[in-house]
Amino acid sequence: MISSTITGWGHYAPSKVVTNDDLAEIVDTSDEWIRERSGIRERRFAEEGDTTATMSIACATTAMQRAGVSPQEVDLVLVASSSPDYLTPPVSSQVQEGIGATRAGAMQLTVGCTGFVYAVVTAQQFIATGACKTVVVVGAELTTRWLNFEDRSTCVLFGDGAGAVVMQASEEEGCGVLGHVLGSDGSGAEHLIVPVGGVAQPTTKETIEKGLSGLKMNGREVFKFATTVMGTALDEALEKAGLKAEDIDLFIPHQANARIIDLAARNHNLPPEKVMVNVDRYGNTSAASVPLALSEAFEAGRIQPGALLAFVAFGAGLTWASAIFRMDSRPLN
Ligand code: COA
Repeated sequence: MISSTITGWGHYAPSKVVTNDDLAEIVDTSDEWIRERSGIRERRFAEEGDTTATMSIACATTAMQRAGVSPQEVDLVLVASSSPDYLTPPVSSQVQEGIGATRAGAMQLTVGCTGFVYAVVTAQQFIATGACKTVVVVGAELTTRWLNFEDRSTCVLFGDGAGAVVMQASEEEGCGVLGHVLGSDGSGAEHLIVPVGGVAQPTTKETIEKGLSGLKMNGREVFKFATTVMGTALDEALEKAGLKAEDIDLFIPHQANARIIDLAARNHNLPPEKVMVNVDRYGNTSAASVPLALSEAFEAGRIQPGALLAFVAFGAGLTWASAIFRMDSRPLN
């Protein structure tokens, strides 16, 4: 099996910052409530010209420049998103076109907030078999355009953004995804759902009038699920990799809620310097959250050559995924 590593990274955060106090002007909430329950202080809202495709293209371009990869070298483009520009075509083809990767295949993965970790594991399979040498992996979401701003328990938690990595084959043994878990439990589908707008219940005048559009979440059920699965998914991936929590250099969890992250970190004896947290500044950016945190961690110099990274995410489906990832020893740009 051929090893892989991350050779480039990038992220795109829309410039419009929306604080908790800003939200309190449009919905019955407070800065104190949001901070105490979720750890979120502010989030980004996409500007008029931003779409999931434009944000993806921006961060993928940065990642390719950092990796020194030309568009012609890209074999595959994977875009994890649950808020693509259109129901069809897949946003991955817009991204493939936008980055000029004319030789590449392109695929959209819609796995809720878990999508980017699913995509990293998928990229690894193509690299491991020799089918691909260079894969661009993006997580991008523009959820604020379908949030229901009359539902205060949900709309305060989410934000927009995108992050990308370039994954490439490595000649060093024992790098890339060393252990992973991909999970799904469709019996929990109703707990995190955009019920209207698909083929089961298309948007009609009536659904609009009844205010049925937008994301619906059963926060308590998702919280219970998330606190359990964050720990078990991490443990199972570590076991498959033959490693222990103490071996992790940086834990990069899905940024949904600071309380969920803290619990997982405490249960695994991971000190703050080994845990990447930016949920306070971006809120939950769904499939963009892990790559946005990963890219910021690289920029902050928190990831060194040879580092052992742990990714864990959970979300709609319900789904979860974890991956233990070893960087190879090449210097980082
Ligand atoms: N501002 C002020 N009050 C709010 C509020 C808001 N934005 N949203 C809900 N409330 C109120 C509720 O109406 C409720 O009032 P009541 O007790 O009078 O009925 C009270 O706050 C407590 O609500 P509850 O749902 O019990 O809060 P909680 O402690 O469970 O926290 C979440 C709510 C959503 C923050 C929490 O359940 C959570 O984080 N869930 C997981 C969400 C998640 O991770 N989703 C993403 C998955 S990818």
